[in-house]
Amino acid sequence: MKHNPMYAEYASAYADAIEANIYNAQFERPSLLALLPDVKNKSVLDLGCGPGVYAQILTQRGARVTAVDGSAEMVAITSDRLGPSVNCYQQNLNDGLPTEKDHSYDVVISPLTIHYLQDWRPFLKAVHRVLKHAGSFVFSTHHPMVDFTASPSGDYFRTELIEEQWDTIGKPVDVAYYRRPLTGIFESLKAAGLMVADFSEGEPVAEMKQSNPEKYLELKTKPCFLFFRCITVA
Ligand SMILES: C[S@@+](CC[C@H](N)C(=O)[O-])C[C@H]1O[C@@H](n2cnc3c(N)ncnc32)[C@H](O)[C@@H]1O
Repeated sequence: MKHNPMYAEYASAYADAIEANIYNAQFERPSLLALLPDVKNKSVLDLGCGPGVYAQILTQRGARVTAVDGSAEMVAITSDRLGPSVNCYQQNLNDGLPTEKDHSYDVVISPLTIHYLQDWRPFLKAVHRVLKHAGSFVFSTHHPMVDFTASPSGDYFRTELIEEQWDTIGKPVDVAYYRRPLTGIFESLKAAGLMVADFSEGEPVAEMKQSNPEKYLELKTKPCFLFFRCITVA
């Protein structure tokens, strides 16, 4: 697992930054939540929970939430934020979900996390295993066409490591993640027994038209993220 300081050393600054920013708060979260089924009284697993913004929304919507992250700092922030109402623990998702029982969740979410995994197979196998029959897996990831602009190989069809710097927290921080073609994304889901039931490329909130017309136009005319709702098939 490549070390990503954004989610460790800078976890607290990241938590503050995504609370109300453009990409997470005004674009990614509303777009992912638009695909989320009703979670009232449902058991929901949040994989790559980060600072717990999603876990909090799920709890407010009446779900029983388990939140998992590979970063001890993120687990601490989520635990502080939500207390014992959420079961939160540290787990490297490259190793699957060894402590979770089969068919125990109605819904699994994983916003903006799967691209940190080089091999999706153990992760998707675990998602399928812990979901109940016809359970939903809702996730978001980078759009491969956007990441292709940073491709070291120039080969769209390769799965490859991208290393760059993001200024999410107001200063450049190194990040490393994996880009893969759309074909690879769909093949991985199919191989894991996850059928795509709904899909979008996201929608910025309408208020952004007034508050940040330039960014609104950019997000309305250029790709950014992908959003999936999958259901389990045998
Ligand atoms: C971009 S943040 C998204 C956080 C949260 N899902 C959200 O959207 O607000 C990605 C999260 O994935 C976690 N992560 C990255 N690689 C991981 C791995 N191999 N195992 C578990 N968590 C990982 C990071 O620690 C970080 O909290």
